[in-house]
Parts: sequence; C-alpha cells; structure tokens
Amino acid sequence: MTIKRLGIVGSGIMGSGIAEVAAKAGVEVTLRSRAQDSADRMVAALEKSLAKQVDKRKLDATERDQVLGRVRAVTDLGELAESDLVLESIVEDLATKKHLFNELDRVCGDSTILATNTSTLPVVEMAMATGRPEQVCGVHFFNPAPAMPLVEVVRAVTTAETTVITARAFAEGCGKTVVEVRDQAGFIVNALLFPYLNNAVKLLDAGVATRDDIDAAMKGGCNFPMGPLELLDLVGLDTSLAILDALYEEFRDPNYAPAPLLRRLVSAERLGRKSRHGFYDYSK
Ligand SMILES: NC(=O)c1ccc[n+]([C@@H]2O[C@H](COP(=O)([O-])OP(=O)(O)OC[C@H]3O[C@@H](n4cnc5c(N)ncnc54)[C@H](O)[C@@H]3O)[C@@H](O)[C@H]2O)c1
Repeated sequence: MTIKRLGIVGSGIMGSGIAEVAAKAGVEVTLRSRAQDSADRMVAALEKSLAKQVDKRKLDATERDQVLGRVRAVTDLGELAESDLVLESIVEDLATKKHLFNELDRVCGDSTILATNTSTLPVVEMAMATGRPEQVCGVHFFNPAPAMPLVEVVRAVTTAETTVITARAFAEGCGKTVVEVRDQAGFIVNALLFPYLNNAVKLLDAGVATRDDIDAAMKGGCNFPMGPLELLDLVGLDTSLAILDALYEEFRDPNYAPAPLLRRLVSAERLGRKSRHGFYDYSK
C-alpha cells in the first residue's frame, strides 16, 4: 500500500514538523488536535516555517501554496477514518496512548495502519489496545522533523511484515533514511543518547561544572552541534523525563534513573523551549 492520506494526532513539537515533511512529499495530511485553537496554531507554525523557506529561496510561492493546500487541521478524530496511515504524536504516556489507539481502531477503516511516534514506550502495548495488532508499528521521527534525516521503524512482536514495508516506504518517500529496530525501550537512538543526557544533568547537579561549560565541553570536545543541556531543552524536559522513566522501567540500569534535578525542573513546569524556560531562559 502507498500512503496517500496521512492522519496525525497531536499538536505538539513533533506533530506539525511531521505534517510539513509529509505534505512536502505530496501526502494529503489531516492533523488532529483536541482544540481548534491549537489546530490553528499548528497551521500558523507551518505557514511560518514555509514562509522562511520561501525567503531563503529553498521553496517557491507555488510550492508553498501546494504544501499548505495538502494540510487540513481538524478536531474530530472521526475525520481520520479514511487515512491510509495514522501516526500519533501525543504526550509520552502509555495509558493515554493506549486509550487513543483503542479509539483510532474504532474510527479508522479496516486497512488503516496505526503508528506511534513514541520515543521509548512499548509499541506492542499500543498494538494490543486495538483489534489489528499486525497493522501497528512505530514510525519514530526526530526533532525537528523537517531537518533530521532519520526515522526508526519499530517492529513489535505483533507487527506484520507488510506493515513494516509500508511504513518504511512512507518514511523513505518523505526523504528520510530508515533504520529498522525491534520494539525495545529507546530503540537505537534514545537507548544510546539518554544515559549521556541524564549524566550531564547529574554532573550539573553535583556542581562539577556549570551549565555553559558542560555544553561548551561537549560541543568543543566531541564536535556535537549542541550541548546536552541545550538538547534536553529542545526535546522537552517532561518528554525527556518520560523517556528516562520508560528506559529505567525496562532495564533497571542506574544510568537510566532520571537525575533528581530533571524531575524537579519538570515539577516547576520548566519544560525547556516549549515553556520558554528549562536549563536556559528563552523568555528574553
Ligand atoms: N520532543 C522530541 O524531541 C521528540 C522526538 C521524537 C519523538 N517524540 C515523541 O513524540 C511524541 C510527542 O512529543 P512532543 O515533543 O511533540 O510533545 P509535546 O509536549 O510538544 O506535545 C504533546 C501533545 O500531546 C497532546 N496531548 C496531551 N494529552 C493528550 C491526550 N490525552 N489526548 C490527545 N492529545 C494529548 C498535547 O496537547 C500536545 O499537543 C511523544 O511520544 C514523544 O516521545 C518527541
């Protein structure tokens, strides 16, 4: 099956980026958000991103209009019924995602593939919340989706080969490099990345070095484009905490046990760039 109609659920950091990627690849996108104002904000963010690309001459005005013409923002989940693929990108919480998969299973046509953009959670549990576990897989984009070349396609024990093939073709059609991975917490990238990010918070908390010096050290010493604390702010500290909790739950490895400071910052609603304050202050 070729994916011509994509449904996206969730209007956070990842949802609108994935919409942009897919619409640019010629896919008709229906973006579902719970509230009309956040649906409208997503379209506005997409317009802004495309306008920047027109200014930089990476896109012409006709292409911009064509891309925008392929994206529709809705609030009713039922509007996703005709989708070939629905990719959810809502909050990183298993109970919430399972509930959504159950609802999607009821509203979507029999042939619709249901996928999750989860960073760490067990895909099989979402699959088993539906009556079509063989048609459920992970399609994990990276942040920011328009810029990051990788997609991890995640195969749960229940996923059919045809589902993997279709998901892979969809991501490749979006211009992404695809790696296939088994349904294990953190898949490849986050299983390797998060102990490092977590240990950076522990270093900061122990007073070993300042925030700026930790970030400068990893940029200058390892040639990383961002320091670990900047990167955590980009990902979102709440999402990062959820990722670490899921990794620790699965492996019980102390490297995955979230740094207490991370949990405290989330309690203080310092969530990173999305709340304009995390390790850094973005309010000015
Ligand atoms: N932030 C990243 O760097 C990143 C990268 C790759 C994958 N992901 C994954 O993408 C997903 C979304 O992450 P994000 O960073 O966009 O999060 P976010 O916090 O920016 O957005 C989460 C969205 O979920 C919505 N939401 C919350 N509860 C809901 C519910 N009960 N029903 C429907 N929607 C609900 C919120 O309104 C919000 O729009 C997560 O599974 C995350 O692990 C995140």
